[in-house]
Amino acid sequence: MCAVKRDFLQIEGLSKSDLTALLERAEANLPIAEGRAPRKELLAGRVIANLFLEDSTRTRCSFETAVHRLGGQVFNLTSAGSSASKGEGLIDTALNVEAMGVAAIVIRTSISGGPAMVAKRVRIPVINAGDGRHEHPTQGLLDMVTLRESLGSLEGRRIAIVGDIANSRVAHSALQGLTTMGSEVLLVGPPTLLSAHQIVHDGTGHVSITHDLDAIIDEIDAIMLLRIQSERGAGSGIASDYRTLFGLTPERASRLKPHAVVLHPGPVNRGIEIDDSVADEHGGVRILRQVTHGVAARMAVLEALLAH
Ligand code: NCD
Repeated sequence: MCAVKRDFLQIEGLSKSDLTALLERAEANLPIAEGRAPRKELLAGRVIANLFLEDSTRTRCSFETAVHRLGGQVFNLTSAGSSASKGEGLIDTALNVEAMGVAAIVIRTSISGGPAMVAKRVRIPVINAGDGRHEHPTQGLLDMVTLRESLGSLEGRRIAIVGDIANSRVAHSALQGLTTMGSEVLLVGPPTLLSAHQIVHDGTGHVSITHDLDAIIDEIDAIMLLRIQSERGAGSGIASDYRTLFGLTPERASRLKPHAVVLHPGPVNRGIEIDDSVADEHGGVRILRQVTHGVAARMAVLEALLAH
């Protein structure tokens, strides 16, 4: 049984068996997530609040789709058009949403630790859909589902995470999850966006840091590309050199192992993190498959928190 309790705030602290239970639940949900099997009715009569105070395409829509696939209803609140634009804070916004009788609140915010703050104040489950530079735990799950589908086990696999590690909540959740599941993680990026003291991990797994993508490109089982998080002040010094140093160009892609998998959480900046021809034609690219897995993974989290 999964030990995920009332909230789902981060991957850090979850055990291998917690994660395995969630991953297996997500994998079992895939036929429903893909619309090939009838929806469940677990959330029938219940309403989930999507509180998205930062922009989102994939995460917000896949939470919505996940709720629908579980038979529930969902409403969205974004900064534009809500009283957040008039200065109402995250906790007050969440307390008001709770007062409407919703079953759970999904939160995306630029405030690292914002969902955890809310979870202390409300009595319903809180799900972190990305908080500042901290974590993006459902993204971590969907990344692991995608890697398991393509590579089988995560144990002993070498996974490179490339780019703006310092500012990426996607990288932080992937790092926690993959090391817990026994993968070796190589963090690759410019020194300004990647330094040892910025990396938070619990020391259970094998993590190494390099600034030279070309030195490791032919040794890895998967490569996870990240966007420079310019909204968090990153990248001004590297922008024009980024593709040359860290982009997945056709030349680099040709050096990947034949079975290697290419991931990107989106949004993709074509011609920077990945060239058009690689994104569209390389056989290892799983970027849209990640999106499908996002629905299944978010269904799994909603089920784990609300199946009572
Ligand atoms: C990421 C995010 O918002 O953290 N996107 C996502 O949720 N799929 C990554 C990004 O914005 O670059």
